[in-house]
Amino acid sequence: MGAKGTDVSRNVGIDAMAFHGPHCYLEMADLANVRGVDPNKYIHGLGQRQMAVATPCEDTVTMATVAAYRALKRFDIDPGEIGTLIVGTETGVDHSKPVAVYVHDMLGLAPNCRTFETKHACYGAMAGLTSAMDWISAGRARGRKALIVASDIARYGLKTAGEPTQGAGAVAMIVGEKPRLLQLDPDTFGDYTRQVMDFWRPLYSKYAFADGHYSIDCYLDAFTGAWGDACENAGTWDRLRLDQLAACFYHVPFVKMARKAHHRHCETEWGDTVTGDDEKMVQLKASYDRQVAPWLELNSVIGNIYTGSMFLSLMDYLRKAEPAGGERLSLFSYGSGCGAAFGTGVVTDSATRYAANIDPAEHLARRKRLDIERYEQLITASETADHNEAPYPDPADWDLGPGLYFVGTRNHIREYTGSASDTL
Ligand SMILES: CC(C)(COP(=O)(O)OP(=O)(O)OC[C@H]1O[C@@H](n2cnc3c(N)ncnc32)[C@H](O)[C@@H]1OP(=O)(O)O)[C@@H](O)C(=O)NCCC(=O)NCCS
Repeated sequence: MGAKGTDVSRNVGIDAMAFHGPHCYLEMADLANVRGVDPNKYIHGLGQRQMAVATPCEDTVTMATVAAYRALKRFDIDPGEIGTLIVGTETGVDHSKPVAVYVHDMLGLAPNCRTFETKHACYGAMAGLTSAMDWISAGRARGRKALIVASDIARYGLKTAGEPTQGAGAVAMIVGEKPRLLQLDPDTFGDYTRQVMDFWRPLYSKYAFADGHYSIDCYLDAFTGAWGDACENAGTWDRLRLDQLAACFYHVPFVKMARKAHHRHCETEWGDTVTGDDEKMVQLKASYDRQVAPWLELNSVIGNIYTGSMFLSLMDYLRKAEPAGGERLSLFSYGSGCGAAFGTGVVTDSATRYAANIDPAEHLARRKRLDIERYEQLITASETADHNEAPYPDPADWDLGPGLYFVGTRNHIREYTGSASDTL
């Protein structure tokens, strides 16, 4: 029986996860040096060491498809078991046609699979995850699973304030009953929405516009709002208390943002502002070092992947923490504009067994380092690579090796080469 008195399935959560990102990356120190900025600003001030950079042949379709293929393969799930596919993205490839339908085709999913794209800046995938949770809890899945993919390329443009907070990548999650990784607790989820102009990307622009410092304030206010709603939904904040949480995951546009979010989390729960170096600050720092900081390694070397950013931290935890099972984790997703959700889940007894299936270390180790000249060429080439009849972007130009790639637009139709199974 569910908390609201309806007969709903409660054992729902994340059964499988995988990541795929671009084959190239930039060292943040190299970017700082060429922009005349102290590297410590990017490395310590923002918390970023490296940034994944998508070539013109890698888009939200190819990254989403490979991540999803990996999740299916590594967790031994038949594509025929997928009954819902949702791609959360704010950098889709078409104003009308969803990324999800390309992914559906490339993975060979069943025709009766419900397929769509969700967009609400960086909140899109969390919206997909909670919709999948509701779909299964409501008994509509008929034993099938939902595939949720967060796929984005964060583009602010060369020499902008947002340039060091770019990145790219896709996280695929398969949601089902009796999950192997994380059981979601629907009664602890809360929502928040408010119309604000902190970050947006008009239809005519490949690059996002942001009022950066204001967006940080909006994010923090959204945390307070969503957390408050979660407490109301739970009827008590017992299960949400910080001392009940083994780890806290936040939307991570840059690593330092997680520290700011955790600061607000502590202040909201404690009902007090924490400044200076008093005892509360010592407590706050200890809590950050234990519950947040250890799980930001993937974010620091991949960068901002927009809607998948929070899930990267969750993956980092699941690949490294060796949880025994029963640990409660909090998830906070923020999408500019703005929409947000806070909720919790409980790690399953089997999660540690799948740590290696989740770990993207092999993929990251194969990435190629770009020098600044190549990085700037690549960003410029990406601006027009998908224009109709533009010269074919060639994976060999970027030394990409076998894989699934975008190769240009002909007769206004996007063309792809290779397959997810070819991708290293
Ligand atoms: C994030 C963003 C606002 C940073 O803007 P900025 O004006 O270039 O950077 P700041 O001057 O605020 O410096 C960033 C941090 O580095 C620190 N810093 C600056 N120089 C430093 C140095 N030499 N050594 C160490 N730290 C340094 C600053 O103190 C600051 O830390 P703090 O926020 O804890 O005070 C900007 O990159 C941006 O607009 N990004 C896109 C929007 C975004 O990511 N929004 C997040 C919410 S969704």
